[in-house]
Amino acid sequence: MPPEAIKTHARVPSTTRRRRIVVAMTGATGAILGIKALIALRRLNVETHLVMSKWAEATIKYETDYHPSNVKALADHVHSINDMAAPISSGSFKADGMIVVPCSMKTLAAIHSGFCDDLISRTADVMLKERRRLVLVARETPLSDIHLRNMLDISRSGAIIFPPVPAFYIRAASVEELVDQSVGRMLDLFDLDTGDFERWEGWQTGER
Ligand SMILES: Cc1cc2nc3c(=O)[nH]c(=O)nc-3n(C[C@H](O)[C@H](O)[C@H](O)COP(=O)(O)O)c2cc1C
Repeated sequence: MPPEAIKTHARVPSTTRRRRIVVAMTGATGAILGIKALIALRRLNVETHLVMSKWAEATIKYETDYHPSNVKALADHVHSINDMAAPISSGSFKADGMIVVPCSMKTLAAIHSGFCDDLISRTADVMLKERRRLVLVARETPLSDIHLRNMLDISRSGAIIFPPVPAFYIRAASVEELVDQSVGRMLDLFDLDTGDFERWEGWQTGER
């Protein structure tokens, strides 16, 4: 093959592409966290690949003013949870990481066992085997021994467990502020700065 032909067929180096993050939403309470994460990623010009479980759709409808179709419209690509042939199901697809937000104990258990019978658990499994960033916004309370054991094992396998626990020191005036702070801290883990929450800078004496 002449050198020109080789050039023509050369692929765009991965360093020139947009950052690419898989966002999975499951049926734990806290659908707004996933929605706000998608909005922030869009604002940061990150390419998003969204997968939603059946129970994520139900909680979106119940807990928020969004319809699942509006949430899907926030992502660049949407994959069916049953599509095990979606690009993100393969380690050869260059995703920079994945966030499961919110993450139910059921999906946590599936990831823990490596039982990949849907696209969310399969893609999380891929992230672990490829040593890529995986953040699980695991939500349940109280936590049983099973939940805690699953979280510890998954953390030891390289994922980050991020329970969406509010930071009361920000003295939030609204639930929205608490959500923004949580979403900001989640995306910090991908080295992305949403810029819309206050960071701790020591005691702010005299200003309270
Ligand atoms: C309103 C609502 C809130 C729920 N909250 C939680 C929760 O916080 N954590 C959890 O593990 N499961 C929660 N569940 C149960 C999950 O939806 C259920 O276990 C489901 O099978 C999870 O499946 P998925 O991980 O495929 O979405 C909730 C269900 C409903 C209807």
